[in-house]
Amino acid sequence: MKRSSVKELLHSDKFLQEVHVKGWVRTFRSNRFIALNDGSTINNIQCVVDFENTDEELLKRITTSAAVSITGTLVESEGKGQSVEVKVTKLEILGDSNPDEYPIQPKKHSLEFLRENAHLRIRTNTFSAVMRVRSTLSFAVHKYFQENGFNYVNTPIITGSDAEGAGEMFHVTNFEANKAPLNEEGNIDYSQDFFGKETNLTVSGQLEAETYAMALGKVYTFGPTFRAENSNTTRHLAEFWMIEPEVAFNDLDANMDLSEDFIKSVLGYVLENCKDDLTFLENRLIQEEKTKPQAERSEMSLINKLNFVVDNNFKRVSYTEAFDILRNCKPNKKKKFQFPINEWGVDLQSEHERYLVEKHFKCPVILFDYPATIKAFYMRLNDDGKTVRAMDVLFPGIGEMVGGSQREERLDVLKSKMAELNIDEEELWWYLDTRKFGTAVHSGFGLGFERLVLFTTGMGNIRDVIPFPRTPQNAEF
Ligand code: 4AD
Ligand code: MG
Repeated sequence: MKRSSVKELLHSDKFLQEVHVKGWVRTFRSNRFIALNDGSTINNIQCVVDFENTDEELLKRITTSAAVSITGTLVESEGKGQSVEVKVTKLEILGDSNPDEYPIQPKKHSLEFLRENAHLRIRTNTFSAVMRVRSTLSFAVHKYFQENGFNYVNTPIITGSDAEGAGEMFHVTNFEANKAPLNEEGNIDYSQDFFGKETNLTVSGQLEAETYAMALGKVYTFGPTFRAENSNTTRHLAEFWMIEPEVAFNDLDANMDLSEDFIKSVLGYVLENCKDDLTFLENRLIQEEKTKPQAERSEMSLINKLNFVVDNNFKRVSYTEAFDILRNCKPNKKKKFQFPINEWGVDLQSEHERYLVEKHFKCPVILFDYPATIKAFYMRLNDDGKTVRAMDVLFPGIGEMVGGSQREERLDVLKSKMAELNIDEEELWWYLDTRKFGTAVHSGFGLGFERLVLFTTGMGNIRDVIPFPRTPQNAEF
């Protein structure tokens, strides 16, 4: 007999027909009521066991997280909280779960405890909701780009270049520690290593994506990205997924338009297609907020917040305007910022970004035209000679969601910038070729996928929106 999913059964009106379903027991009450879940939906289906005619030994094996196969009749439910249920005619235990050993009890566990059991936390409502939303969001990402004429490009994970020039890279080598051969100068001789050169895990696919945009016009990457920065925050991972569109002939304004339209589109898709999960996550957040002081509670519920982003324009503000707002704001004057804002040119810290979005503008903000000195070498220099065509999209509760720019397409300007920063032209000969052969204005950005999932689900820690987080001192599973 064909197996139905729990989701299909909950939406079915084929009453009095025989149905077949498999899943895991969430709870078993009164020796009668199984709440069964198979991951197809946040909701469980109630399966009612005829305990008088069921073997006692079998009843004992219906425990939380046991895998079961059920055949029965679909009936309209008499109980509150569900419209249909299954009257069990045949129950088979597919896999037992010893309740004395199973770590996830049907009670509230802390997120920290669940992180240590990341292989089992997906069996909880919270994590199944988060990961279904994550999956839907990634589909929406591809859907948006595919429907708008972008080509999906898989840029290399192992690379010899440091795209961001920040030097926060994981090295990739086949040398055994302590046994690496040395050259005449006493440095490690990478010419003898697997790739014949020094290599690392990519920090961004941008530079390679740019070469593809110069032929395919509109491209995007969506892949794993690695940063060896030792920042133990709720917003940083050592391994995360980045989405990087790159578009030939787009200037910075078009780039800002693309980022805004893209984010609104994927959020809209999730609002439409993840209603049950978002409702669950919204209620979870309401419960969590009750434990916080009034001043820290958010003014909007999760779904209202998502709708607000979809329905309102992002505020576009230059670095210089933002600098003035920050320099004159109360927290700065009262020396409340850890990093005071005095001189034009300072890098903005997350406390400043959050002041701008959460207190001042109260909506997503796109900051643009940053000082050249605090941004990467590839950004296009403005005519003022001191700012570059950079943009960061800042979100409430998150800070930086997107970093992007119009790229420096002028070979001479790019070369002199590289010389200034001691970036070896020989290392990036292929990147410079794009400026030699048919160069054109082009722009792109990178969006940290987990930060998007954080915002969409209302979770508070980036470790809880990726299945198996990699952070300093932690690579379990
Ligand atoms: O601002 P970033 O460093 O920009 C780039 O890498 C550019 N090459 C992108 C481009 O123009 N194609 O990173 C882009 C985004 C950030 O805005 C943030 O959302 C995310 O990547 N991100 C991280 N997410 C999680 N953990 C980390 N350690 C992250 N570092 C950056
Ligand atoms: Mg950035």
